[in-house]
Amino acid sequence: MADWNPALYSRFEDERTRPAHELLARVPLASPNVVVDLGCGPGNSTELLVQRFPDARVTGIDNSEAMLESARKRLPGVAFSLGDIGNWQPDAAPDLIYANAALQWVPGHEALFPRLFALLAPGGVLAVQMPDNLDEPSHRLMRETAAQPRFAETIGDASRLREPRKPITAYYDLLAKDAAQVDAWHTVYQHRMDSAGAIVDWVRATGLRPFTEPLGEALRADYLADYERRIDAAYPARTDGRRLLAFPRLFIVARRQP
Ligand SMILES: C[S@@+](CC[C@H](N)C(=O)[O-])C[C@H]1O[C@@H](n2cnc3c(N)ncnc32)[C@H](O)[C@@H]1O
Repeated sequence: MADWNPALYSRFEDERTRPAHELLARVPLASPNVVVDLGCGPGNSTELLVQRFPDARVTGIDNSEAMLESARKRLPGVAFSLGDIGNWQPDAAPDLIYANAALQWVPGHEALFPRLFALLAPGGVLAVQMPDNLDEPSHRLMRETAAQPRFAETIGDASRLREPRKPITAYYDLLAKDAAQVDAWHTVYQHRMDSAGAIVDWVRATGLRPFTEPLGEALRADYLADYERRIDAAYPARTDGRRLLAFPRLFIVARRQP
C-alpha cells in the first residue's frame, strides 16, 4: 500500500484528536517514566502525552516514513522510530503503552493485546482507542461500491481487506485476567461535516485507502464519484446544511498488577 498522507489526515485533526484526549484522561498514572505512542501518526497524540507527562521519556513508533517525518517536525525533542507494532519490542519496559486509532490496522488481536500487555512494567497501563465503524454506512458503502464488477476485478474481495473488530467484551476478556483494573467503554461521536465530499475526504485519509489504492487514476476517480453519491444519500443534509457523521469508537484502559 502507498504511504499515508499526513496533510490529508491532519485536515480533521481536532475531530481525530478528541478521542485521544478522552482516552488519556482515563489513564490512571501520575508520573510514568517510560511512555510509548504506538502508531503515533503525525505526532498529534504524542503531543498530548508530552504535555501530560513532561518528565517522562516519550517515544513514538510508526511504520509510515511520511507520518514520522511530520511527527519529527512537530515535536523535535521526541524520539520517533520506524517500527511495526506487530513485532515491536521496547528497549525498556513501558509504564504506559498508548495506541490511539492505530491497532485496528494491525491483525491478530487475540495475540497482540496480551503480548502488548505483558510488555508493560508492573503497574503499567495499556490504553487503546479504535474506531468501531465497520458496520456504519461510511464503511458498508466502501464495500458495496467495491463489489461492482468494474471495481471488484482490481480490488478483489473487499470484505477481507479489514479484520472485523471484536466485541468490546472480547477485548475485556483478553486483558482482564491479568489486570488490576480494566475500564472499557464506547463513544459514538457525531462529527459535523461540511458536505458529502468532506466525509469522503475524512475516510480517504484512512479506511478508504485499501480500496482506492489498487485502482488506476481513472478508475479511482470513478470509484470516488460513485462512493460519494452513496454517501450523499446515506448522510442527508441537516437543517443547517451540514452532515452528521456518526462515528463509534471503542476504548479500553487496562492496568497491570503492581
Ligand atoms: C489513524 S493514524 C493514528 C495517528 C495518531 N495516533 C492519532 O491519534 O491520530 C494510524 C497510524 O498507525 C500507523 N500504523 C498502521 N499500522 C501500523 C503498524 N503495523 N505498525 C506501526 N504503525 C502502524 C499508521 O502509519 C498511522 O500513522
